Amino acid sequence: MHYFDYRDGELFVEDVSLNRLAAEVGVPAYVYSARTLRRHFTVFDQAFAGTDHLVCFAVKALSNLSVLRLFAAMGSGFDIVSRGELMRCLRAGADPRKIVFSGVGKTADEITAALKAGILMFNVESGPELYQIAEIARGLKMRAPVSLRVNPDLDPGTHPHISTGHRTSKFGVPLSQLAAYYTRARDLKELELVGLSTHIGSQITEPGPFREAGQKLAEAVRAILAQGVQLKYLDLGGGVGVPYQDESVELGDYAAAILGPLRGLNLTFIAEPGRVIAGNAGVLVTRVLYVKETDVKRFIVIDGAMNDLIRPALYDAYHAIWPVTKRPDAALALADVVGPVCESGDFFARDRMLPLPRPADLLAVMGAGAYGFVMSSNYNSRTRPPEVLVDGSHWHIVRERETFDDLIRGEKLVELKPNGQ
Ligand code: LLP
Repeated sequence: MHYFDYRDGELFVEDVSLNRLAAEVGVPAYVYSARTLRRHFTVFDQAFAGTDHLVCFAVKALSNLSVLRLFAAMGSGFDIVSRGELMRCLRAGADPRKIVFSGVGKTADEITAALKAGILMFNVESGPELYQIAEIARGLKMRAPVSLRVNPDLDPGTHPHISTGHRTSKFGVPLSQLAAYYTRARDLKELELVGLSTHIGSQITEPGPFREAGQKLAEAVRAILAQGVQLKYLDLGGGVGVPYQDESVELGDYAAAILGPLRGLNLTFIAEPGRVIAGNAGVLVTRVLYVKETDVKRFIVIDGAMNDLIRPALYDAYHAIWPVTKRPDAALALADVVGPVCESGDFFARDRMLPLPRPADLLAVMGAGAYGFVMSSNYNSRTRPPEVLVDGSHWHIVRERETFDDLIRGEKLVELKPNGQ
């Protein structure tokens, strides 16, 4: 469900015409719908109504300050994985007591900053990390709230690059070693063991893997409670998929799959959704440069590229591509939609049937709200696009288009002699 719709053949974001917007801000541009973000957050939150819970938006999915500010105002917590994400949350006005810190490689600086900020908990991924946090907390004369991230060893049935719950992945501690970990954590008086957590993967479109993860964690929680340790939180991470193409995702089924095994445990449930909130709330608007025909192929060359949206190149991900203005006379044609970057991996769609656009037409790459701008780069010395947040009939540029000066900021022009010293 999202608020990108046609009015008289013209694509609108809420009440704003994408044609008008593109004329003012230029393309390529990321455009987000605040109404969609709000709706997704609310629907997700309400799926757990009746259960003590906290939704911590996964900042990595879409980290623009204004978006974080919107979620903070709606009472959201945040899942962070770096100091940069921590700073973003604090700058956006987030409540630090609703921040969970995930990731296998937290540095001493990051741990210190998070402790000083007073976050809700660290999701700890290894023994050495546990000791590191304890040592830093001791130095600061603080106690660190920690939760152990468990690797439940299951197959979430998603792309290998975004699958994290199998025992061969770098994430979490094995269930078999959990008892040893919580004994260690309990013995370190600078640590307060407050929960268990996991994250099994991303773009999961079946409730089964969540049920399995919930069952395994619930069992582990019971074993810990039996040792007299009082836990407060059970964090099942993110991972709920979105319909990029024809996948169907039922939030109710997901909530039921998760909550079933947790019933009776008397813990606060934490979720870390990213994609399911932001994915379909954003598009990348681009312009057709050329339509190129060869003997065997037709290419629609657009001004957006893999540096703007890398998901197709990286995961062979599917993104729907919609014309911003429908041409009643456009024939359906088979084409590759590609960008200007000098790599064959620079494509948005391959062998896709779509209404054949003409040069200068605008196209909207759909489902680009999550893992879109945040994964963009300056490859090929391309400036990154602006981010625009639409709210009803208003829109705001929430990140300016980069300039050449942004591109070379921090670079030094050192003069070396052509023939060496
Ligand atoms: N929590 C943790 C600890 C995570 O590692 C992630 C995502 C999430 C929550 C949020 O997962 P979500 O609800 O968005 O599935 N770049 C990839 C996705 C990488 C996901 C990494 N971790 C993509 O474009 O598909």
